Amino acid sequence: MGLRVSIVLPTYNERGNIEPLLAQLLPLGEQWDLELLVVDDDSADGTAELVRQLAHNEPRLRLIRRVGRSGLASAIKEGLLDATGDLVLVMDSDGQHEPGSVRRAIETLEAGGSDLVIGSRFHPEAQILGLSDRRETGSTWANASARFSLPKRYAHLTDYMSGFFALRLEPLLPLIRGVDVNGFKFLYELLAVSRGRLSTAEVPLTFQPRTYGSSKLDLAIFWDFLISILHSLSFRLLPRRAISFGLVGLSGVAVQLLITQLFMALWGLGFEQALPIGVISAASSNYLINNALTFRFARLKGVLLLRGLLKFLLVASLPVMANVGLASAYYSLIAPNAFWAQLAGIVVVFVWNYAASSRFVWNTPN
Ligand code: GDD
Ligand code: MN
Repeated sequence: MGLRVSIVLPTYNERGNIEPLLAQLLPLGEQWDLELLVVDDDSADGTAELVRQLAHNEPRLRLIRRVGRSGLASAIKEGLLDATGDLVLVMDSDGQHEPGSVRRAIETLEAGGSDLVIGSRFHPEAQILGLSDRRETGSTWANASARFSLPKRYAHLTDYMSGFFALRLEPLLPLIRGVDVNGFKFLYELLAVSRGRLSTAEVPLTFQPRTYGSSKLDLAIFWDFLISILHSLSFRLLPRRAISFGLVGLSGVAVQLLITQLFMALWGLGFEQALPIGVISAASSNYLINNALTFRFARLKGVLLLRGLLKFLLVASLPVMANVGLASAYYSLIAPNAFWAQLAGIVVVFVWNYAASSRFVWNTPN
């Protein structure tokens, strides 16, 4: 019997897909000492119940069930930390990753010379059957920005977003512990925290269409990824949530300019009357977007959403005075430069709004 191999299978509503997949993976038990580890985020469709039942007759099958869904990357991290194999492979459980590549990935790892083997959908020998054109273009862009933001040593890789990869557990455990788990991109984060120290290899991975159910990738996951790229580009110094808050703030600038202009041009309002409408619209849109993206883990709904808006407007109105005071002080005390004076004011407003609204609107310490 060869090495011990664990296969981590994250599931969220995969009741229709998991059983055939397990059946296809079990024969690997003839070649290796196998462990199949399903990490379920309390699926409503009974995935966990089914896996538990199957485990009665299959000692190689284990189930981890978590309550309070915290996402794919977090499920993968949990599976890796709990796996007992020497080698661990992570793959999707919806059948989109063909089980045929599993053997090849593990054998590549076993052959030595690499700590991490990635199943790539963009490998010359791979095929993409199960992604819409839009998703495929999205992945290509995501890959290009990932390549740009990661250490040069990984520049030759072709699929930084893959959900299929195998690794040597023991040497990688300290890195895995440090992976930040937001959204989908576990592999990208692992490569980022490893700072170029991993030796990698790729195997082709054919991406199949889904049989049952639907994808869980949504706009919020794209947003998380964009924030991750900026986080890496800031040498991981700026807090992730602050980056998100800052980007939303920029969208607010556009909203304010647009609304103010609109009220002046279409309804003939004067600048002084139009401006407050623009400012309040921008603050409200910032609030709603932050609630949906930056603070979605603490998302406010219903009456609380309205109460949060009032708090946010209150929090954001305080630094308006500070902003004016600070910009004037900078102008008269430090340097009479209107640009830098305003910029100093804006930085202070940003820090205040971020810190105070995290604390008072969404009740999260930062
Ligand atoms: N435990 C857990 N918790 N599992 C999850 C969660 C979650 O919150 N969200 C998704 N999964 C599981 C799904 O059940 C599936 O087995 C796998 O993760 C992939 O999820 P899909 O929703 O099928 O993703 P996809 O097919 O749209 O995305 C594919 O491409 C991405 C990059 O473009 C996958 O291969 C991803 O792994 C990959 O990152
Ligand atoms: Mn899928």
